[in-house]
Amino acid sequence: MATDTRGLIAPPAVRVRDLHRSFSESGGVLNGLDLDIAPGEFVALIGRSGTGKSTLLRALAGLDRDVAGYGEIEVPESVSVVFQDSRLLPWRRILDNVVLGVRGPDAAARGQQALSEVGLPGRERSWPFQLSGGEQQRVSLARSLVREPQLLLADEPFGALDALTRIRMHALLRKLCEAHKPAVLLVTHDVDEAVALSDRVIVLDAGVVRADVQVAGRSPVELRSFLLEELEIR
Ligand SMILES: Nc1ncnc2c1ncn2[C@@H]1O[C@H](COP(=O)(O)OP(=O)(O)O)[C@@H](O)[C@H]1O
Ligand SMILES: [Mg+2]
Repeated sequence: MATDTRGLIAPPAVRVRDLHRSFSESGGVLNGLDLDIAPGEFVALIGRSGTGKSTLLRALAGLDRDVAGYGEIEVPESVSVVFQDSRLLPWRRILDNVVLGVRGPDAAARGQQALSEVGLPGRERSWPFQLSGGEQQRVSLARSLVREPQLLLADEPFGALDALTRIRMHALLRKLCEAHKPAVLLVTHDVDEAVALSDRVIVLDAGVVRADVQVAGRSPVELRSFLLEELEIR
């Protein structure tokens, strides 16, 4: 359990209990899943394809209406989601994409500030098609940031990027998380990404948490091989 600066026990940012989700009679995708994420904690979620990672993320994001009643889900008020594709609206300029739906007289200034933070100052009036895939993902991070989320959900956000761009995005994401301190749940199929970025790694298997390990204090090499074994990749 996390403690705050006064040593008091802080309530978790995310609390999931006994979550079940199935899409057919043939069996469950999530089978009684429990998960806590502390405020400001960075958790990576790994698991083989089809194990329910996106299903869990969509449930936490409030994108799965049918999940109601199949367990308990508590998330903070302000939640942002980043997907593998940036999902920018092609007919809106970059700044408009960043501040879409953001209210207040300072929305544009906040959008500009977020674009600077992700390394895209001066691109406010560009169109999405004028940006590379990596730059579009930076915009999508800026769009999340500007909302100051208490919880950032990311579903394989760097999966479509080349290796070098991905490494740059890792550094950027770490920097942004240190500055803004949201709780993070990052879905990835990349064990190295999980170990490099997170405080804790969770392995999902058959719709439950199969392993839950703290990264601090462990050798990255040893942790990597443990996780690969949990994923049954030998
Ligand atoms: N809306 C849906 N309708 C039917 N089946 C779905 C739906 N969403 C996910 N599934 C199924 O649930 C399983 C888990 O999917 P998903 O959560 O996307 O896996 P992962 O992200 O771990 O690869 C898969 O078998 C997938 O086909
Ligand atoms: Mg998925």
